[in-house]
Amino acid sequence: MVTLNQTSLDIELDQPSQFHYVWLRDNCICSECMHPDTLERTLITAEIADDIAPQDAQVDKDSLVIDWNDGHHSRYPLVWLKSHNYSQSRFNSDPAAGEIKLWDREFQSRIPSYDYQALHDSQQTLLEWCCDLRDYGLTIVRNAPLVEGEIERFAEYVGVVREVIYDRLHNVRATPGEYNAYNVASTTLELKPHTDMPCYNNPPGVQMFHFLVNETEGGESTAVDGFNIAAKLKEQDPQAYRILATTPVSFQMDSARGDIASSNPLLTLDANGELKVFRFSNQLARPCNIAAEDMDDFYRAYRKIGRMIEAPENKVQFRLNTGDMMVTNNLRVMHGRNAYGGEGQRHLQLSYMDMDDVLSRIRMILKQQQEAS
Ligand SMILES: [Fe+2]
Repeated sequence: MVTLNQTSLDIELDQPSQFHYVWLRDNCICSECMHPDTLERTLITAEIADDIAPQDAQVDKDSLVIDWNDGHHSRYPLVWLKSHNYSQSRFNSDPAAGEIKLWDREFQSRIPSYDYQALHDSQQTLLEWCCDLRDYGLTIVRNAPLVEGEIERFAEYVGVVREVIYDRLHNVRATPGEYNAYNVASTTLELKPHTDMPCYNNPPGVQMFHFLVNETEGGESTAVDGFNIAAKLKEQDPQAYRILATTPVSFQMDSARGDIASSNPLLTLDANGELKVFRFSNQLARPCNIAAEDMDDFYRAYRKIGRMIEAPENKVQFRLNTGDMMVTNNLRVMHGRNAYGGEGQRHLQLSYMDMDDVLSRIRMILKQQQEAS
């Protein structure tokens, strides 16, 4: 049963549902409106008539069939309408959509850990690893080959390397007792939890380490779930949350290849008001340039979240050994390490991807599995 209104129609699917004429006309899936090979829209949305409306609309078998007043004829499978039904709540037709699972110190005993070879032997295992990275933002991969450049090769196995102003394959090492560094990561000092490259307007979404050797004393890796910190702050101090979601903070870093600087809120929200990007790097923050009357309130909020990041109950700590990789969602999870010493060597290599590459791999594996079944 279809009821025609002024600018929309009502139809009973699993629930009473409403679809607007302009939306339906725009999303016609016939081969005239959508290229049959590329599945790209060929209909020009801007050219749809302002008074677009059905002359006739009815359910025929398992489809909604519409004869439009511009002479076009459309057929929408009901199953397609159900999966794109926006009338009661927002739909999500992305097969790679996941569920954010927040964590704190208790997560330490159950950080998702995978065997390197298993990720190459089984697409199902690779899928599970991608999903854990998507949902938790922190994973460990054990027993990777002790070969220089392996982290770059692994990134290419999953997706595409995201280049930044450092080398495509970045080395982190220090000779204990010597200060031979150009940034704190390359010293033996403690490295406070941070996200990498917050100076980019679009920071790399996946941060990947590979320990070619780790024979030092100390130097345990640390990680903090920035989304969990933000959720706690929102509950405990909504005003501080709002300040950090609306006040731009300046970050900058440079290398021989470039000088990157930008100002963005520590908490970047999406169009629905949900947290999308968490940035935090004490060492890369630059003097903030905000209105004088806002300065005291900003520092109160900024220092509060900084203390929450340092709180032991929010932080996991674990040892990464020679051959281990750590992979984080760098738009959510902060990483760091304790100070280290001793006679042993410590050398890791670092590369980046984007979270889009991880979600892309999920969609591709699911598609393969669907085609094979
Ligand atoms: Fe880092």
